[in-house]
Amino acid sequence: MVDPLSAGLLCYCRAGFEPELAAELGERAASAGFGGHARTDRGSGYVVFSGVDGASLARALPWRELTFARQKLVVLAELRGLDPRDRIAPMREVLSGIGPFGALWVEHPDSDAGKPLAGLARSFANALRPALRKAGVLAATEEPALPRLHVCFVAGDHAFLAVSEPGESAPWPLGIPRLRMHADAPSRSALKLEEALLVLLDADERQRLLQPAMHAADLGAAPGGWTWVLMRHGLHVTAIDNGPLRPDLLERGRIAHLRADGFAWQPPRPLDWMVCDMVEQPRRVAERMATWLREGWCRQSVFNLKLPMKKRWQESQLALRSFAAQAGRPLVIRARQLYHDREEITVFARSAPP
Ligand SMILES: C[S@@+](CC[C@H](N)C(=O)[O-])C[C@H]1O[C@@H](n2cnc3c(N)ncnc32)[C@H](O)[C@@H]1O
Repeated sequence: MVDPLSAGLLCYCRAGFEPELAAELGERAASAGFGGHARTDRGSGYVVFSGVDGASLARALPWRELTFARQKLVVLAELRGLDPRDRIAPMREVLSGIGPFGALWVEHPDSDAGKPLAGLARSFANALRPALRKAGVLAATEEPALPRLHVCFVAGDHAFLAVSEPGESAPWPLGIPRLRMHADAPSRSALKLEEALLVLLDADERQRLLQPAMHAADLGAAPGGWTWVLMRHGLHVTAIDNGPLRPDLLERGRIAHLRADGFAWQPPRPLDWMVCDMVEQPRRVAERMATWLREGWCRQSVFNLKLPMKKRWQESQLALRSFAAQAGRPLVIRARQLYHDREEITVFARSAPP
């Protein structure tokens, strides 16, 4: 029943993007000198990368650098044919002598097959937690600095036991940050920029790089969701769009609306931020973003790259490489398919500190 995977990796992703995540893991593992292979089913919301030492591979693939993974876990065991009358005993057996872990997360993939397992995951967590505490596998209270234990049910009788390192994994169950739509936000897109700032910047960067009274441009701003997010951080925003902004945004004094072409407009003086949500060919967007950073028109940027229909991993890499090359200066670049992204990825870029 216990199928040790010699500790491969288990990564979650947006359902439908398993081929992209599998390609990414395969390519990154190979460049880091690892063999192994990806195993997945289309629409399952997860990819297993096995045939490697998962802990070493996890160290070679920094969490921050992964684009299509929502979560990165080191597999301890895959348990198939679990008896619904006692799923705990085989888990306790695998975990005997391991730990203590700082937290237990019982999860399921974010997919059509995975979502109905949410009730099982909840009730099972309530049963497993005291059993593991009693066995000394789980700390008596939550210890955020210790590794987390994950149980991921992919079916009622089929689960993975896995581990994540805080700081080298997403700090949210299922790898999904739960953001609530604010009643005052002009559009749902606001959630995308909020998530980008949460996921692509660390706490120190959010504090240092998003200061009140900084100046930003928002290219393709209408109806104003991203502008509204920046404004709530205290920034002054020049919103570029031929379409209308929600009128009340302009009454607050920190926002100027310019009806102009976002691919042609340039700021009269250097800005702290430029964000861009224009729906366009990824290479065209990448080229314009590179111009902004090369010319020093902004210090940092968040922008979206739409994904093509095919070869989405390869094409996204080409667009990012061409962006980096055309920017012509050292940049910090992080790209991720966010929970609120659909057929796109979101990129954070800033000039690298000297
Ligand atoms: C997805 S919407 C932006 C939503 C916005 N980020 C928000 O949070 O409300 C894309 C916007 O890009 C604008 N757009 C597309 N091409 C543009 C261009 N060349 N110049 C300026 N705006 C453009 C469109 O008018 C549209 O309002």
